[in-house]
Amino acid sequence: MPTETVYGLAGSIDHPEAIAEIFRRKGRPQDNPLIVHVASFEQAYALTTPEGAKVIDTLGRWLWPGPLTIVVPCSDQVPSEVSAGLDTVAIRMPSHQVLRDLITEAESPLAAPSANVSGRPSPTRAEHVRDDLGDEVFVLDGGPCEHGIESTVVQVIDGGLYVLRPGAISSRELENLDTGLAVHAASEPEHSVARSPGMKYRHYAPDAHIILCNTVHEVNEYLRSASELPLLLVPPGMEEAFSQCERRPLTTTTLFDELRRADSLQTETIVVLCDDSVRSNEALMNRLLKAAGIDRKGQ
Ligand code: TXA
Ligand code: MG
Repeated sequence: MPTETVYGLAGSIDHPEAIAEIFRRKGRPQDNPLIVHVASFEQAYALTTPEGAKVIDTLGRWLWPGPLTIVVPCSDQVPSEVSAGLDTVAIRMPSHQVLRDLITEAESPLAAPSANVSGRPSPTRAEHVRDDLGDEVFVLDGGPCEHGIESTVVQVIDGGLYVLRPGAISSRELENLDTGLAVHAASEPEHSVARSPGMKYRHYAPDAHIILCNTVHEVNEYLRSASELPLLLVPPGMEEAFSQCERRPLTTTTLFDELRRADSLQTETIVVLCDDSVRSNEALMNRLLKAAGIDRKGQ
């Protein structure tokens, strides 16, 4: 199914065989819970406790429908296959109209992870899903995804709002909301327990080897000693600084697209210029560090 973030592989939460099939097709570890997608606040309330419903109101009134996933205590309506046995559930109300219609037609919330094979970059176009999962999976083509990066996953713990996975909504946007909640990054060492189970797996990795450079100088140093010219991903506007090899603009929306494109061209090495603008973009940096195999926390 298309969403405004990335494509998802969906099953009705009332259909245990569909849920089991999702884990099989993706090769997804059983201990990594799925996000449940809803089309209304009523559907969300049914999946959680009264306490969870308050959290959903506090955040959802600002950011739903949209790319925010809220982790709340789960009710007995959530099958344990979906929550991976946790006592919480991750809920998101997407804004993509095709998906909203699909959930309404299905008359049930849809559990869905990103529709890539586990470990591959998330799919941002229908053909990426077919490339990973083959023709046996029905793909509802809703066009290229607007954000091109996954939703931000948050949880309220002891009165603080913890970002378990940085994503399409930045911490700055969360801080600017009138929620009365202080925002914390789950990657702060003292909060390292509060991370999404899925964050411990190496994700978003293309076949190509990825090298991250902080400055134009570092990139040039690399190019001087390289035996083969790499593909360069550089912040938009920086392309002119390098004329010797192929350059592509690096943005949150296009990163996964570029990684898949590089693989289809059998690119061996990708060099990424992570200047200040990139380093201050937490979601983009998070995906780049994982793609480069540098962030392997928990493995
Ligand atoms: O944008 C998105 O979020 C996309 C689209 C399809 O909605 N979905 C997506 O799903 O990225 P997935 O399964 O690839 O990532 C879901 C993340 C994982 O890191 C998982 O561990 C975390 O959400 N998660 C799910 N349930 C959780 C829970 N109860 N507590 C903490 N983290 C949870
Ligand atoms: Mg995923």
